[in-house]
Amino acid sequence: MRAVVIGGSGQIGGSLLDSLRERGAEASGTYATVAYPGLIHLDAADLESSASWIRASRPDVVFYPAGFTWVDGCERDRDKAFFANHTQPLNIARAVASYGGRFINFSTDYVFDGLSGPYTELDPPNPLSVYGQAKRQAELDLERELGELQLTIRTAWVFGPERQGKNFAYQLVRALKAGKPMIVPSDQVSSPSYGPDVARVAVELAERRVSGLIHVVGPETIDRLTFARAIALGFDLDPSAISAKPTAELAQGAPRPLQGGLLTPRLDSLIPAAMRPLDQSIADFVARLDRRSDYADPRKSAG
Ligand SMILES: NC(=O)c1ccc[n+]([C@@H]2O[C@H](COP(=O)([O-])OP(=O)(O)OC[C@H]3O[C@@H](n4cnc5c(N)ncnc54)[C@H](OP(=O)(O)O)[C@@H]3O)[C@@H](O)[C@H]2O)c1
Repeated sequence: MRAVVIGGSGQIGGSLLDSLRERGAEASGTYATVAYPGLIHLDAADLESSASWIRASRPDVVFYPAGFTWVDGCERDRDKAFFANHTQPLNIARAVASYGGRFINFSTDYVFDGLSGPYTELDPPNPLSVYGQAKRQAELDLERELGELQLTIRTAWVFGPERQGKNFAYQLVRALKAGKPMIVPSDQVSSPSYGPDVARVAVELAERRVSGLIHVVGPETIDRLTFARAIALGFDLDPSAISAKPTAELAQGAPRPLQGGLLTPRLDSLIPAAMRPLDQSIADFVARLDRRSDYADPRKSAG
């Protein structure tokens, strides 16, 4: 399999490149603003040149773990949110489909309203936020235009080792190491998902040519405080500085699904026990940080 990862500099993208190479695929990755050795510059906002680069390279599969992923920022700039999370992936997807290649996009449980989660692939979406609306529109248009040539992977609360060191676990560990309090929402529930496992599963689904829509999340659906405490304990940190407040008191820019999270009936039938539970994932996270120097290490930089 020849694969391209658009957003190889990001959290899921970095893990995808690792997984693809571990499984013997020929893989290249791109960055938009944060360069790492070996990555190719590609700005998907430049619709014409990014599509022609894809048509010239003709990879068998394009993974697209990219976009404008700042949920509150999307709420402030609807046009940018739709351009980055809908128009840009659709443009690349059309280029991939033009020669019969396959396109794998990443979506979110924020396509649901969070009144009755966790949700299966068959539950009707009703996004509350601009981010969720743009992601849902991309799901619909990719399915309609590419059919069997596309796979949409919905995931949630992704955490784990990454080079940019931005995800929630990094923010939490840095705050606790610096002796700062950490306030998390008390009433937001979802499915923490370990990035390296999301990536490994995505690569296996690509190898099997799975198409359509699939949920790929960790096996637990828990609240943010429980998640945060588990990370703190896994990193040998005192969780007592973590407290929780209702979402209504936190003034987050975008509305969040409260009772969110995803169920994985399709994944369970295709690859049973594909995703490790939270405790094993956190232990692996710490072990990878000990083993590899190319990840950001939240234990070494307080903030
Ligand atoms: N993280 C989560 O909890 C979560 C949950 C559900 C769904 N998802 C979805 O999963 C995907 C990956 O998430 P992530 O957490 O890995 O994101 P991330 O770490 O924020 O990475 C985003 C990637 O997109 C790239 N990018 C941004 N603008 C671009 C552009 N104009 N052209 C090309 N590349 C561009 C970034 O490149 P530079 O950094 O080099 O600019 C980066 O590599 C996203 O679609 C996200 O919506 C994530």
